[in-house]
Amino acid sequence: MGSLMALLDTYGRAHRDLRISLTDRCSLRCTYCMPEQGLPWLAKPTLLTTEELIHLARIAVGLGIDEVRLTGGEPLLRRDLVDVVAGISALGVEVSMTTNALGLDKMAPDLVAAGLTRVNISLDTLDRETFKTLARRDRLDDTLAGIAAADAAGLAPLKLNTVLMRDINDHESPALLAFALEHGYQLRFIEQMPLDAGHTWRRDNMVTGEEVLVRLRKHYDLTPAEQRGSAPAERFLVDGGPATVGVIASVTAPFCGACDRVRLTADGQVRNCLFATTETDLRTPLREGASDEELGELVQACITAKLPGHGINDPGFLQPARPMSAIGG
Ligand code: 5AD
Ligand code: SF4
Repeated sequence: MGSLMALLDTYGRAHRDLRISLTDRCSLRCTYCMPEQGLPWLAKPTLLTTEELIHLARIAVGLGIDEVRLTGGEPLLRRDLVDVVAGISALGVEVSMTTNALGLDKMAPDLVAAGLTRVNISLDTLDRETFKTLARRDRLDDTLAGIAAADAAGLAPLKLNTVLMRDINDHESPALLAFALEHGYQLRFIEQMPLDAGHTWRRDNMVTGEEVLVRLRKHYDLTPAEQRGSAPAERFLVDGGPATVGVIASVTAPFCGACDRVRLTADGQVRNCLFATTETDLRTPLREGASDEELGELVQACITAKLPGHGINDPGFLQPARPMSAIGG
């Protein structure tokens, strides 16, 4: 049950889903995201504290947010993660997390006890060598252990996110689906978006949602599942169901028209889009003693300024300065 308030933009979209990036750091170095040596990390004093994060989440809930997703970088690297989950779930909203699952084997039970309800886990390959190439770390076994632990802790439905890259892991889509089906996980393939720190994204190198479907259909019968609503994944029943597979065609079939997301970065900036080129600073006014009402007005102003779409397909498209790892998925 959401509040009657709604963060409405000028296109009539109500914003109910808040994504909070807890850190820009990560335990992996996926080539489509971060360079080998990492990035210039956000300075420690600019990071929101546990209390500040929960305070801003409370304001957002007062504005109609009814679902909070914790992202990164890698949220499991935040030492106060359990406290953040507990503090936000105490606001009466659903708390989920997008993670690479490294270390989740140890933390899943505590996170569930704190109120975490669901996880989306990134899994791009089941091959150890490919994992080493793609994520630049030899951690496939740890990822798989994290997935199993999330499942055992009752985090359901357990969703897996896969980004396919041509000639690296695109041949693995049927194997990844077989793995998901075997364990009862929901797999979704996400088109690679121009959000890598190195700005190396090229449209003709991107594996499209259509291509993914063509390859999967050589092995599985796929029929369209229910309407997608504000959910970005177009879902398909696999071999008649009930299992499904999703395709998130963020680039070739944008879902901006139904977007209900707003983002808060680890250093306290509100973003109305993954691809926004401007941000609204909440950290400074918060630390200067702004009232909840004033902070709420800043959030609303940021939403009011939201553009109709991400513009990736426009000739004048500019990639945002902040990489994905500092925005959150
Ligand atoms: N395009 C699409 N998805 C991406 N992710 C990270 N970078 C990109 C990108 N450029 C995915 C991760 C993770 C989620 C946060 O977003 O694999 O599953
Ligand atoms: Fe880390 Fe996710 Fe970026 Fe990979 S894609 S380096 S797991 S933040």
